[in-house]
Amino acid sequence: MHHDEAGTGTPLLLIHGFPHDRTLWAPQLTGMADAARVIAPDLRGFGAWADLPDRPVLTMEDHARDLRDLLDALRIERAVIAGLSMGGYVALAFLDAFPERTRGLVLCSTRAGADTEEGRKGRQATADRVLREGTAGLAEELAPQMLSAATRTARPELIADVRTMIARQRPAAVAAAALGMARRMDRRPMLPGIRVPTLVLTGDADEMIPDTESRAMAAAIPGSRLVVVPDAGHLVGLEAPQAFDRAVRSFLEPV
Ligand code: MLT
Repeated sequence: MHHDEAGTGTPLLLIHGFPHDRTLWAPQLTGMADAARVIAPDLRGFGAWADLPDRPVLTMEDHARDLRDLLDALRIERAVIAGLSMGGYVALAFLDAFPERTRGLVLCSTRAGADTEEGRKGRQATADRVLREGTAGLAEELAPQMLSAATRTARPELIADVRTMIARQRPAAVAAAALGMARRMDRRPMLPGIRVPTLVLTGDADEMIPDTESRAMAAAIPGSRLVVVPDAGHLVGLEAPQAFDRAVRSFLEPV
């Protein structure tokens, strides 16, 4: 599994969202290297993966197993598992499957529930579309929605960066991940039983997953900490790296 790594100390596994790659976490690789061993992998099929996904559907559990294998390869027994959006769905799947490998959890711009019926139809449409026409149109549409209005105005170059990141992903991987998200289970019932330290982090201007989802998750997870970053959108670590890093840093201290 391709990954970037920086720093030493508590292993912090950063899982990108859909349809991103490990470069989403570039600010954290520099900004958090003095506070943790930061590890940012490409999920199967994304980023530097040379081959196409070997199956038409990549489930959250498939990604979780890949990440367990990565920790094995790096000889890391337990890591803080941090995921943004789809990465958060993967983080919950990881905790479910490998609680003994989970030192803590950071759930960022994500939700615990499953897709609605309408949402599933949308995933199928996304998969069909990218397999038919490639990822450029999806990138054009998603990139601005993933940033807050404030960021779009102040840093328009970030829209182009996110658009480029999405456009370079392989259609087969994007389709397989979309269909995997459509099949993901409702993990809300597991929230009250979570016993690892958990940080729930979101931007208050997230247009993809409203901050109400994060507030609900934080309320359901015993002892969790909630941080809502003002004026940040879906890609909070990229848009507001200082606020993101500060929140994760102070969470990591006692973990
Ligand atoms: C993501 O950023 O991973 C997506 O917004 C997740 C989703 O489409 O549910």
